[in-house]
Amino acid sequence: MAISFTTKLTWIFALLLILVMTIQVRAQPPPGFINIDCGWKNNSGYVDQALILPYSSDGDYVEGGMNHEMLPEFMAGATNEQQKTLRSFPDGSRNCYTLPSNISKKYLLRATFTYGNYDRLNKTLDGSLFLFGLHIGVNFWEAVNLSNWDPSSTVLKEVITIAPSNFVSICLINFGSGTPFISSLELRPLQDTMYPFVNASVSVSYFQRYRFGNITDIKDYITRYPMDPYDRFWQSWSLTYGKSYSYPWISLNTSNKVESLPGTDVFNVPSAIFQQASTLDTNYSSIQFAVAQGPNLLGNNQKLLPIFHFAEINESNPNRRFDIYAGELLFPGFSPSLFQMDSKYMNGQFLQNSFTYFSLNKTATSSLPPLINAFEVYSLVGMENFTTDSDDVKCIKEVKKYYNLARINWNGDPCSPTEYSWEGLTCDHSKSNQNPNPRIVTVNLSTRGLRGGLAISFMNMTSLENLDLSHNNLTGAIPDYQLESLTVLNLSNNKIDGPIPDYILRRVQAGLLDLRLEGNPVCSNNRDTYCSENNNKKRNTTPTVLIAVIVPAVLISLLVGMCILWKLYWKGNSGDNEDYAMYEEETPLHIDIRRFTYAELKVITNNFQSIIGKGGFGIVYHGKLESGDEVAVKVLMETSIDESTDFLPEVQTLSKVHHKNLVTMQGYCQNKKCLALVYDFMPRGNLQQILRGGDIYSLDWEQRLHIALDAAQGLEYLHESCTPSIVHRDVKTANILLDKNLVGIISDFGLSRAFNDAHTHISTVAAGTLGYLDPEYHATFQLTVKTDVYSFGIVLLEIITGQPPVFNDPHTVHLPNWVRQKIAKGSIHDVADKRLLDQYDASSLESVIDLAMNCVENAAIDRPSMTEVISRLKVWLPALSSDKQSASGTPRRKYSMDSEIPKQFQMMISGVSNEGTSFQSGYTSGLTEISMFSGR
Ligand SMILES: *[C@@H]1O[C@H](CO)[C@@H](O)[C@H](O)[C@H]1NC(C)=O
Ligand SMILES: *[C@@H]1O[C@H](CO)[C@@H](O)[C@H](O)[C@H]1NC(C)=O
Ligand SMILES: *[C@@H]1O[C@H](CO)[C@@H](O)[C@H](O)[C@H]1NC(C)=O
Ligand SMILES: *[C@@H]1O[C@H](CO)[C@@H](O)[C@H](O)[C@H]1NC(C)=O
Ligand SMILES: *[C@@H]1O[C@H](CO)[C@@H](O)[C@H](O)[C@H]1NC(C)=O
Ligand SMILES: *[C@@H]1O[C@H](CO)[C@@H](O)[C@H](O)[C@H]1NC(C)=O
Repeated sequence: MAISFTTKLTWIFALLLILVMTIQVRAQPPPGFINIDCGWKNNSGYVDQALILPYSSDGDYVEGGMNHEMLPEFMAGATNEQQKTLRSFPDGSRNCYTLPSNISKKYLLRATFTYGNYDRLNKTLDGSLFLFGLHIGVNFWEAVNLSNWDPSSTVLKEVITIAPSNFVSICLINFGSGTPFISSLELRPLQDTMYPFVNASVSVSYFQRYRFGNITDIKDYITRYPMDPYDRFWQSWSLTYGKSYSYPWISLNTSNKVESLPGTDVFNVPSAIFQQASTLDTNYSSIQFAVAQGPNLLGNNQKLLPIFHFAEINESNPNRRFDIYAGELLFPGFSPSLFQMDSKYMNGQFLQNSFTYFSLNKTATSSLPPLINAFEVYSLVGMENFTTDSDDVKCIKEVKKYYNLARINWNGDPCSPTEYSWEGLTCDHSKSNQNPNPRIVTVNLSTRGLRGGLAISFMNMTSLENLDLSHNNLTGAIPDYQLESLTVLNLSNNKIDGPIPDYILRRVQAGLLDLRLEGNPVCSNNRDTYCSENNNKKRNTTPTVLIAVIVPAVLISLLVGMCILWKLYWKGNSGDNEDYAMYEEETPLHIDIRRFTYAELKVITNNFQSIIGKGGFGIVYHGKLESGDEVAVKVLMETSIDESTDFLPEVQTLSKVHHKNLVTMQGYCQNKKCLALVYDFMPRGNLQQILRGGDIYSLDWEQRLHIALDAAQGLEYLHESCTPSIVHRDVKTANILLDKNLVGIISDFGLSRAFNDAHTHISTVAAGTLGYLDPEYHATFQLTVKTDVYSFGIVLLEIITGQPPVFNDPHTVHLPNWVRQKIAKGSIHDVADKRLLDQYDASSLESVIDLAMNCVENAAIDRPSMTEVISRLKVWLPALSSDKQSASGTPRRKYSMDSEIPKQFQMMISGVSNEGTSFQSGYTSGLTEISMFSGR
């Protein structure tokens, strides 16, 4: 049963080639086929006579690289025209081909690589490593390994993928182990129903594809187009392994049509392939085959997905039944139907252990041995990285074309993956606003020798914040860039003339745009600050206006600087030329915390470089104070604030609020047009991220209770210890930050009042966030501390269940109702977050659920106060009373990366209590043990 084979993929079309040489047919390729012969020099292309398909040169699809031919001694043996030429890429770490496609359509993309010693360096056989990478779009696809490779042999790579936009790109990545090159590229559209496990986040790479039966004609070594209309390569098993294989093969074939049941066929394998099969002599019972070996088939590192194609074609109505194994039993007792296609595959489930041996074993009752017609094996290509926003790509490509920037190797996707992003661009990868695609935020083309006018394409880059075109030879006037996002426009030292558009002027005067024009003709008679060399210095003493509002949804880490913009300017106020410095004098209030200038904020945030999050209301920047302390800076654009006078007193109040569970305000920035708050940076992010984050680690039950208690204590302080009491209004998991010891810290308190009351006395725009809103508030518009208690109840339910406040199950459901339904069914343990791994004390679970449901009572009067909440929570955290949480500097909780411990316990416990299903006793004792381990 020894199975051994070579794995080099070579194929031979020689016979067919001669056969069709004489045929003069005008090639009519199926729609969507793209056939590229890389390195082919003649622009007019040619028709491949074997395939009757037109091939074109690659000039239209790629920039850079050099054309080559294989050496003459290999030419004669070439099995097709495409092998003979290639394009190599000695320059650049990434070089991409871009092929037109239809967005969201499924494609098969094939690339081939034949070295042919084109550079006469014997690279494949000189003993050195010859390896380069391939990306499909912005994700790693596979490595091409040509070390120790016959120079006349071809490496074949295929991927089935979904086009992320109206083009697909494949990129060659230089690993520093040999110059990447490519011989051919073929794109084949598939039906969207085919290969159903391929979706936007999963592509699959060709691993093997074989057909069985007695195929002896060498020209059938590879079966492809036109027999397979999708031009898949089906390699002949018998021609590849027939000789080296000691199996007692029996070949079957039929001229009967083999058909699929309507609606079941997701692979569209040609009927002709099903008309042949291989089986064994009846004395044998098992077919086994291996699928991986060799430099380009490294099955052991991959997640594989096999597909087996079967059809019974032995007409004598046989009884044939077998089990299909890939290490584990995949499909038991399968029996192929007569003349009917049947493809067995696990939809979307990849083999975890990379079993590269498959067996078909006859079952005890079967009278015949197994049979097989064909199989395919694919490996998983995770598409975890997103392509840049397609509008941004379109615009920046226009810019590239306009300034003829090919030489700076702007190639492939502009932002992704980050290590290959275009020089001079910075991108926002924060996936804000439901948009997972990176956006371009900075374009720096300073000193690039640009000539001509300013490209208007920048106008549509709606996330662009910083545009630097200084030190070039740009001429003409500034286009009317109406870009709200733009905060820096540096055009200094060019040849720009003409009037400055109104929109830009107004934004400069409002302090929203930092315009630099010095060193341009337009400045010859202009003394405005934007024409002054000292521009920057002056600005440092003139805080600029930024608008900020509370950002309810804070992403990675909360920081916060808030800057507020006045509606003043939007009203087209005529006082455009006011001297903003005067507003510096206008602070009647005494506030004890540090006052920042806009320029200082700029320095702290390194010119607003590092975006750590974006909420619905604005941008959050990371910053570092002179002392080295980290802060976060949130810049919010909000035009609905009429009066800053409501805001400043609020800042004054808040600056006096100090509690260990409330985020500390470091300072603020304020003048008539600018208001900012700077808070401590919380390195662990917020509770929402942790509860909904991946399963990298999750909080254990005790940690959850601690965080709930922390949040409750912060709220209690606002409610009971401040005069007048402060209603948070927007209590939610995203506003509960976690410090390095996982202590819960409330943020964004008190601010909603300033903003809401500023312009709406009876707010119809509800305070708070959907899912957390007090139902009574809707009826009365009365905000009380009980409004916060309601929201806290929702938070508590999230902590217990790990579910968001509103979700689909399968219909949209509000968390309290979901919990009510579960409790009504008596299944209280179904309520608990699965990631707790059932590690909690059942009675504490029950009473915390009780408490949460109490908090979300419809009538405010029925809800407990925060003080009561705290005392009810403390019952379940007895350890607290002793340590009193006084030493806040000592790690109080273990960051449960080592969730190994609870897991081990779970195993132990379930092993012990196998017969007694007594849930409580076992787990309770486990819990106390765990507490000991975690060093509390
Ligand atoms: C490549 O191999 C050929 C034949 O073995 C030899 O003549 C030639 O010198 C080699 N070239 C290099 C650059 O090593
Ligand atoms: C996605 O991008 C990251 C960072 O650029 C990179 O490390 C990672 O390998 C990429 N993932 C894939 C599947 O290519
Ligand atoms: C395959 O077909 C050839 C003739 O085409 C025949 O000579 C040979 O015996 C067949 N082999 C098997 C295993 O059926
Ligand atoms: C299948 O049959 C072969 C040969 O009888 C045997 O060696 C192998 O263990 C069987 N495989 C499984 C998974 O039972
Ligand atoms: C602008 O063009 C002139 C002449 O064409 C050239 O000498 C100069 O170096 C260019 N300046 C920049 C900044 O590219
Ligand atoms: C910007 O986008 C609009 C609409 O999407 C389009 O009409 C306009 O031509 C674009 N302008 C530029 C300069 O690309």
